[in-house]
Amino acid sequence: MTFHDPTSRADLNQGKIKHIDFRIRANFEARILEVEADYQLDAPISGSFSLDTFKLDVQKARVNGRALTWEMGAHDESLGSRLTLNGLQNDSTFSLAFRTAPDATALQWTDPAQTAGGRHPFLFSQCQSIHARSVFPCQDTPSVRFTYTAEVEAPRGLTAVMAAEQLGGQGRGAAFVFKFKMPQPIPSYLFAIGIGNLEFRALGARTGIYAEPETIEAAAWEFAENEKRMIEAEKLLGPYLWGRYDLLVLPPSFPFGGMENPRLTFVTPTAIVGTRGQTNLITHELAHAWTGNLITNATWSDFWLNEGWTTYAEMRITEVLEGADFRDLVYVYHLNEILDAMKNRLGMDAPQTRLKRTDDGDDDSGSFSIPYYKGASFLIECEKAVGRERFDAFIHRYTEKYQFQSLTTEAFLDFFKAELPEVFEKVDVQDWVYGPGMPSSWKMPESKLFNDVQVVLNEYKQGKRPDKARVKDWLSDQVLCFLQGLPETISIEECNYFEDALDLARRNDAHCYSLFYRICIASGDEAIWPRVEAYAGRIGRMLYILPLFRAVAAAEWTRGRARGLMERIHDQHHPVTAGAMDRMLAAAGL
Ligand code: BES
Ligand code: ZN
Repeated sequence: MTFHDPTSRADLNQGKIKHIDFRIRANFEARILEVEADYQLDAPISGSFSLDTFKLDVQKARVNGRALTWEMGAHDESLGSRLTLNGLQNDSTFSLAFRTAPDATALQWTDPAQTAGGRHPFLFSQCQSIHARSVFPCQDTPSVRFTYTAEVEAPRGLTAVMAAEQLGGQGRGAAFVFKFKMPQPIPSYLFAIGIGNLEFRALGARTGIYAEPETIEAAAWEFAENEKRMIEAEKLLGPYLWGRYDLLVLPPSFPFGGMENPRLTFVTPTAIVGTRGQTNLITHELAHAWTGNLITNATWSDFWLNEGWTTYAEMRITEVLEGADFRDLVYVYHLNEILDAMKNRLGMDAPQTRLKRTDDGDDDSGSFSIPYYKGASFLIECEKAVGRERFDAFIHRYTEKYQFQSLTTEAFLDFFKAELPEVFEKVDVQDWVYGPGMPSSWKMPESKLFNDVQVVLNEYKQGKRPDKARVKDWLSDQVLCFLQGLPETISIEECNYFEDALDLARRNDAHCYSLFYRICIASGDEAIWPRVEAYAGRIGRMLYILPLFRAVAAAEWTRGRARGLMERIHDQHHPVTAGAMDRMLAAAGL
């Protein structure tokens, strides 16, 4: 049977990439990677063979001592171009030499000023979903898995890390060469590299953290409980099969909260808040080691299999580590966010509200979290249908049976039905997975900590402002719920009042500020502008910066400033974030 992934133009029906040996030189002056790569396929190929690329400059192609010819197909702004190698004669290996583009979509080369230390540049990759092709020619689909080794040459003084086993390194002239090996097969989107002024600190036997010397102390404290997190994750999901679990703290322009790169989760420094209050982010990325990295969505239409399952697992582990109250609070906050996106921005029937996606609608408009929380809600209903004990036994069978495989939604449902037929009697699986919006039988869960916030919000709506003492012990997530529940516009005087009463400066939480600035902008608080500009130039986490940008593009007094702001900060951001901002402004007609 032929397999088709709409986001790949590679040939997926002859042979599959099985292993790659990379030699990578990081050229910080030119902001390019110079790469040689030896490929091994799982079957010999004759004639032509196509791979995905994005703005790669191919310089050489050889096989068994012969030169191969190649063609680059037409460039598409999202899919890149198809690289076709010609002249294969029953070959199952080939070698390529190529360079990445300075604007490779997976790579951000930061200025020293964008790092914590301010003295050294930083390079990091973010390949999910389809940006690995801007780093190396590949079958850029989550349905193909390969192992790899890599030698990475970096300027002396900088440390290279990869989402792989670290094998040490050695000096080479003015540079240093780091060696890596990834013995477990991964899909291309989990290829990851980082280079910067990094220090390592062990946290536990299997856990540690890489960060700039300026942040390592705070980061090591914030994430000190990772060993415990692993133990809980293993109880729920089965043995951890990737060896170590380390973290890499990125510069603040990192476009996500976290990225589950195997063995080495990439994490935003905005999660270091001094309270361990955002470590459920790490729980989430760790859970991906099973749901996502071990069992991978076969195509990006099945993304909910990665994120819905991971959010479900995150909530289960958070329940044990931080209690059900905190878990419910975070859950209800995010459910309100996705319901708002469904009702007020996308429409309850929008294709982005379905778990199984068949559209290619963009996710900049607030639909990003739907597969996470609609997916988790579905799995919670399934758990309720058969009870926790049987559901947990099923989870173990699932992670064991499908480890190191990629799965479509349909294959998952077949397995699910064979294992737990009762689920299908009690839960409208078809509606949950293929229907839009939320099923009519679903009810918003209760959260005690959320309800405490609603009491204060209701008092405010009746004219009584909360004083500082009333909210001083609130968790940051309660502050988020409060800001989420405020009217769209308030008076400027109230903006000032709430910043102080909610103690936002002390909390130093970029998430709270994202919501707060949005309210200030909608409310016409002109004095806030310089701070919005500073924030927008520094924080790259898209969940924070895109909605803020949307608010800037919407308000009368900031609309005219949106393009200027974008142009000033464009180069500070990861290409993916900058691209999303471009699209947002275009959509707003700016
Ligand atoms: N795998 C995602 C990040 C991602 C998704 C990158 C889609 C590219 C395309 C990661 O696990 C994630 O979900 N991160 C969240 C964390 C959160 C839900 C705790 C984020 O960055 O907001
Ligand atoms: Zn995730």
